[in-house]
Amino acid sequence: MRNFNESTITDAVVERIKDTPNTRVKEISASLIRHLHDFVRDVRLTEAEWVYAIDFLTRTGKTCDGNRQEFILLSDTLGVSMLVDAINHAAPGATETTVLGPFYVENPPEYPSGADIRGTLEGDPLYVHGRVTSVEGAPLANAVVDVWHSDKEGCYDVQHLEQTEGLAGRARLHTDADGVYRFWSIKPAAYPIPYDGPVGDMLTAQARHPWRPAHVHFMIDVPDHEKLTTHVFVNGDQYLDSDAVFGVKDSLIGDFVHHEAGKAPDGRILDVPFFTLAYDFVLRRRS
Ligand code: BEZ
Ligand code: FE
Repeated sequence: MRNFNESTITDAVVERIKDTPNTRVKEISASLIRHLHDFVRDVRLTEAEWVYAIDFLTRTGKTCDGNRQEFILLSDTLGVSMLVDAINHAAPGATETTVLGPFYVENPPEYPSGADIRGTLEGDPLYVHGRVTSVEGAPLANAVVDVWHSDKEGCYDVQHLEQTEGLAGRARLHTDADGVYRFWSIKPAAYPIPYDGPVGDMLTAQARHPWRPAHVHFMIDVPDHEKLTTHVFVNGDQYLDSDAVFGVKDSLIGDFVHHEAGKAPDGRILDVPFFTLAYDFVLRRRS
């Protein structure tokens, strides 16, 4: 086959992959080819725009290193990450999921229940507590609860490790026999996603801001249950309706309650004002 034109080339390319042995690879490849070709026809892509797109993707790749994944950031800001999340985590009755983000650290430092995990982070003290249960309401004991969050300036520990010389505002905790988890840290702030690379250029070109509303990340793992990757967002944050990565869900907004100095729920006496957050998580059994 030869002499392809605008209306014949798509079928020709799909025909060329007809012997793909893996049926899922074949399905994905054919759909990608058809959608890509339709997209190019739809916008009547110019050669200059094609060159720009190749350069944009090349820069996106070159911006990736051991600490930075610009392609995931591109997926996040185009809403693809949350679309994949929506397709794969429709779990009625369970806590809703949201993006993982780039600041998770494998095997975070372990802390006992009730510990202060702030490390060197400065900010208003925050006491977080709640229960982890099954959809039926049974407590899930010994659940692995990983938490991480930004500081009061909106920076994660890993973004300025040289200064703090250690992980801070992140921990691995375990629930007790009643499924209860609790810890102290500081109230996180809203922050911009990394915008000094090609994704930032894209946001600027689209007249978008790079901000995420303040949140605490949770990843909860219990044997035989679906692993939960989510955040709890700070109620009232100005970016709840314009999160740069489309990750906010109503059910994930928590009340970070302000208290004057005095006795905290765990009996601790604070001489400065503090916040508390009560939030329960529900995990679904793996089918
Ligand atoms: C985060 O919440 O840590 C995050 C998520 C997506 C992109 C950038 C940051
Ligand atoms: Fe985050």
